Amino acid sequence: MIKLDNVSLVFQGGSVALSNVSTKIKEGEFVYLIGHSGSGKSSLLKLLYKEYVATKGDIDVVGMDVTTLPKWKVPILRRKLGIVTQEPQLLEDRTTFENISFALEVLGYEESEIEQKTSTLIELVELEESMYKFPSQLSGGEQTRACIARALASNPLLLLCDEPTGNLDPTLSTQIVTLLEKINRAGTTIVMATHDSSIVNRRKKRVLQLHQGKLMSDVPQGRYI
Ligand SMILES: Nc1ncnc2c1ncn2[C@@H]1O[C@H](COP(=O)(O)OP(=O)(O)O)[C@@H](O)[C@H]1O
Ligand SMILES: [Mg+2]
Repeated sequence: MIKLDNVSLVFQGGSVALSNVSTKIKEGEFVYLIGHSGSGKSSLLKLLYKEYVATKGDIDVVGMDVTTLPKWKVPILRRKLGIVTQEPQLLEDRTTFENISFALEVLGYEESEIEQKTSTLIELVELEESMYKFPSQLSGGEQTRACIARALASNPLLLLCDEPTGNLDPTLSTQIVTLLEKINRAGTTIVMATHDSSIVNRRKKRVLQLHQGKLMSDVPQGRYI
């Protein structure tokens, strides 16, 4: 599903975001990516969907060779992925329902399918009561749920989440993680960046730990870090 081989990312000016990272993630896994702020978590996720381009090394994602992928094929890669960015990026002038149905429209779904599929996604993330609200009327947790539903519009094989619980209190964070685990059980591979070690310790999934751009540890599922 994901293969990184000796990947480094150095920005212009010399700041090193990632340094010789190698790892593999199999289909169906749920993997936490942890590390302090600035350790390279977001950079690693962005390399996977070619928002950033590696300075060195090879990257393979959902069977595509990201390293050599030409720019015009990047949308093909991204259609196979669900991406939840750190700041919820909902369209402010559209309701929850419209934000999700718009994603389906962009993907080229037939109008008849869009309504049904939007409703299914809204049910999945339990936003039935907020589906006609605008983003500014949603709580932080609800906004994150809407982003997750929208990211799932393309039936992605892989869902990448960058600190989806970053601005939420512990109860809401647990609800989001429980939702992601449900999505994972239904077959979607998940990589979630977080600096919240309390979540990670409680859920006992595989944990990749970054420190100053280096992969410091890889703790298998079921163990405490
Ligand atoms: N677009 C960018 N330009 C320059 N430096 C960047 C950029 N994005 C990230 N960095 C640097 O790369 C390092 C890792 O950042 P980041 O991946 O955002 O870490 P994290 O998500 O773990 O907080 C930091 O030192 C950050 O300043
Ligand atoms: Mg980050």
